[in-house]
Amino acid sequence: MTSCDFAIGQTIPETFPAEALKQAALRAIDRYPGAKGHLHPRELMARRETEREGVSVNPEHIALMNGSMQSVALAGQALMSAPGDLVITEDYSCSGTIASYKGTGLELVGIPVDADGMRVDLLEQRLNTLPVKPKFIYTLPSYQNPTGTRMSRQQRIELIALAARHDLPIVEGNCYGDVHF
Ligand SMILES: Cc1ncc(COP(=O)(O)O)c(C=O)c1O
Repeated sequence: MTSCDFAIGQTIPETFPAEALKQAALRAIDRYPGAKGHLHPRELMARRETEREGVSVNPEHIALMNGSMQSVALAGQALMSAPGDLVITEDYSCSGTIASYKGTGLELVGIPVDADGMRVDLLEQRLNTLPVKPKFIYTLPSYQNPTGTRMSRQQRIELIALAARHDLPIVEGNCYGDVHF
């Protein structure tokens, strides 16, 4: 029986241009610059962010990763200081992120989501009752996994304002930013 797992974003292997990737990898490995990765794809990413999100991004502030999960995991490790630290997430979140953050000792504090995304009003209330300040907010504003909701523009502005008031970094997972149906 064929089954489709909708819990994670899976790409159909047959759609990968395997031969072209092999040739590209052979050329790229010889010229591997280390650290943040090749400049050209970082410049392309910066331009894409500017065109898609309307923000100006310096390619020097972009590091290439092995997929979205690696960057989510590394951001968590960079922002936490000790096991037991708290991270704010949407009430339901990406199974990979939950496993990664729990694995490194972070404790997740889930905030309910409605059709406009994470309930910023409830987050504010929750922050006032938590025994310690969380280390950061992890959110999936565009096509949230698993609820599929898209955070409204108003809710995004309120979330940024709240994060600034409480001095909380935001880690945004945007791996579905280009997915539109
Ligand atoms: C929100 C979210 N982040 C990260 C990932 C993992 O992405 P990648 O395969 O690029 O590591 C997934 C995969 O389903 C996801 O849904």
